[in-house]
Amino acid sequence: NAHHIAVIPDDGIGKEVVPEGLRVLKTVSEKFDCAFAFDHFDFASCDYYLKHGQMMPDDWKALLGDHDAIFFGAVGWPDTVPDHISLWGSLIQFRREFDQYVNLRAARLMPGVSSPLANRGPGDIDFMIVRENTEGEYSSIGGKIFPGTEREVVMQETVMTRTGVDRILRFAFDLAQRREKKHLTSATKSNGISITMPYWDERVEAMAANFPDVRWDKYHIDILAAHFVQHPDWFDVVVASNLFGDILSDLGPACTGTIGIAPAGNINPEREFPSLFEPVHGSAPDIAGHGIANPVEQIWAAAMMLDHLGERDAAAAVVSAIEAVLAEPQYRTPDLGGPAKTSECTEAICRALRDI
Ligand code: NAI
Ligand code: MG
Repeated sequence: NAHHIAVIPDDGIGKEVVPEGLRVLKTVSEKFDCAFAFDHFDFASCDYYLKHGQMMPDDWKALLGDHDAIFFGAVGWPDTVPDHISLWGSLIQFRREFDQYVNLRAARLMPGVSSPLANRGPGDIDFMIVRENTEGEYSSIGGKIFPGTEREVVMQETVMTRTGVDRILRFAFDLAQRREKKHLTSATKSNGISITMPYWDERVEAMAANFPDVRWDKYHIDILAAHFVQHPDWFDVVVASNLFGDILSDLGPACTGTIGIAPAGNINPEREFPSLFEPVHGSAPDIAGHGIANPVEQIWAAAMMLDHLGERDAAAAVVSAIEAVLAEPQYRTPDLGGPAKTSECTEAICRALRDI
């Protein structure tokens, strides 16, 4: 029973780093007792758009729907296709149609990456940010009245449903329970946002009762942002609404200096639909085709995918292998100040993985 993976490399360096991720997965299948079946798709790319006038075929949902996961590169480029078309025609469709209501980001301090925070070394910072991805502050309920007049009013409602809040909290508590520290932090703002945020807090407390072995706390979003910078070692799993999570999921990796190498998962935890794993970077037109793109983020995305597929030991091993390789300056790619080609970095990670 192989894991059934849809591979979508898309554009630019996506075409270069996705195969590197697949090389690592091949090594994983040799080392661990797991198998993969890959299906390769050329759509959700600008090349496809230029040929067909749309980003994906009409039956994309049927083509992808029965896969266990989507391993995604980066979409956008050449710029004859505007970014809003490439993004809305692909990633946004997946997130919505496949109900990927969890956005998961890693913040882990890696060797060889300079953290903007002083006195922190590898091992000191290692947490995950769980962002609600479907409702909350990003609702389309609202509008403008008396436009263009002195009486102009604009409103946009925050929508929280019990189902929506509970399912993101359940995912976050469950993740915390599987981790060593078993610690969850919730982002709130119930002192200022006096209806929805107290509701969020109430649901956190109710959900916590189902996870008695998980220690939890909460902070208002403003001081929480400050703590990310000053005490990043306090965190293990951080759960947040759509807007707060959007901000924290860039801030967290930024604190580890890894905004360029920490991946993202867009997850449907029930596995009713495929989840999507991707690097956060784009197609990097400026370096595409030179064989020097950093493959680490795509490989780390593969680790996140392995974890989602239940291959927890393999996932942890891939992250350790990345860590071991980044500690060696000669295997770092130029963006990290090293001399390595994309393939040399990957090869070193595969070797480290075999040796673990
Ligand atoms: P970008 O992330 O592609 O590039 C920003 C800078 O980071 C460039 O100098 C690039 O060379 C460097 N960089 C990125 N990934 C790298 C890697 N793996 N190794 C070494 N250097 C790397 O962002 P940009 O330039 O704003 O966007 C380019 C295109 O990518 C646009 O069409 C944009 O819409 C698209 N994009 C797609 C995303 C996605 O598919 N999720 C996310 C972000 C941008
Ligand atoms: Mg964002």
